[in-house]
Amino acid sequence: MANTKDVMILTGAGQIGLAIARRIGYNMKIVIGDKNEANANSIAQIMNNAGFDAVAVEMDLSCRKSILNLIAEAKKYGEIAMLVNAAGVSPSQASIETILKVDLYGTAVLLEEVGKVIKNGGVGVTISSQSGHRMPALSVIEDELLATTPTEELLSLDILQEKNIRDTLHAYQIAKRCNVKRVMTEAIKWSTHKARINSISPGIIVTPLAIDEFNGIRGDFYKNMFAKCPAARPGTADEVANVAELLMSNKGAFITGADFLIDGGATASYFYGPLRPQTK
Ligand SMILES: NC(=O)c1ccc[n+]([C@@H]2O[C@H](COP(=O)([O-])OP(=O)(O)OC[C@H]3O[C@@H](n4cnc5c(N)ncnc54)[C@H](O)[C@@H]3O)[C@@H](O)[C@H]2O)c1
Repeated sequence: MANTKDVMILTGAGQIGLAIARRIGYNMKIVIGDKNEANANSIAQIMNNAGFDAVAVEMDLSCRKSILNLIAEAKKYGEIAMLVNAAGVSPSQASIETILKVDLYGTAVLLEEVGKVIKNGGVGVTISSQSGHRMPALSVIEDELLATTPTEELLSLDILQEKNIRDTLHAYQIAKRCNVKRVMTEAIKWSTHKARINSISPGIIVTPLAIDEFNGIRGDFYKNMFAKCPAARPGTADEVANVAELLMSNKGAFITGADFLIDGGATASYFYGPLRPQTK
């Protein structure tokens, strides 16, 4: 069959990726990349059973070769017009090293490589996190290093060495801060294709993983957080898709290189409200 469809690359076959792809992926070939092939297959099946046109590919976000392979697979179906990056590991799932390799380095490489081949007028979003907003401000030089260091040198930065990273939460925060900075520099490069790229920073979004957390030993921590944030509840993946839809549609035509916090006010409460840590 002739290549008649534009292609969406979706990395990360989780609830957030699924919600965004369902919202905007109609009439496209959706190429779903995930390290966990079962996740990718299951999301592809859900989408195909709902009338979408999806195919699963095993890929590892922490590996440039694997990213290039995903892009090559995607290009077999047509031009890459959309990127949704919702792959990642959380602080309770992985080591400092893995978080930096997947969430920081991998995201930077994916944005770089897709930016080289994105269709004219194409658009992308990458999922960062409210965690990046909670971290105290970095210095101007540190921010610039995260934004502009060539991807293959990123993990050698002094601020990313294990001696300078307190724990997995700190690694996750700095990775998510880096995502926002890379989006700014990539927006300049993507504009040579008249393409746009933005990030979304969600607060706690209900997913199977989050439900495990609510019911686990940190359950009281989450109940306290929801009680003390303005929205008084966790969010849903479909609300994240609301923001993605704005950013990726023509209504978002003037938005690029930007980050959107969607956290029910939890960050506001953390800095200036009842969620403010006692020691601050
Ligand atoms: N759920 C939340 O509360 C929340 C909040 C803020 C940010 N986020 C971010 O949203 C994104 C998606 O999260 P989610 O809640 O849908 O999680 P999820 O665990 O449901 O989905 C993430 C997917 O990424 C895949 N993945 C992990 N490592 C990978 C790798 N090396 N290469 C390719 N795929 C890999 C996993 O297999 C999984 O299918 C992540 O970046 C996460 O940090 C989530």
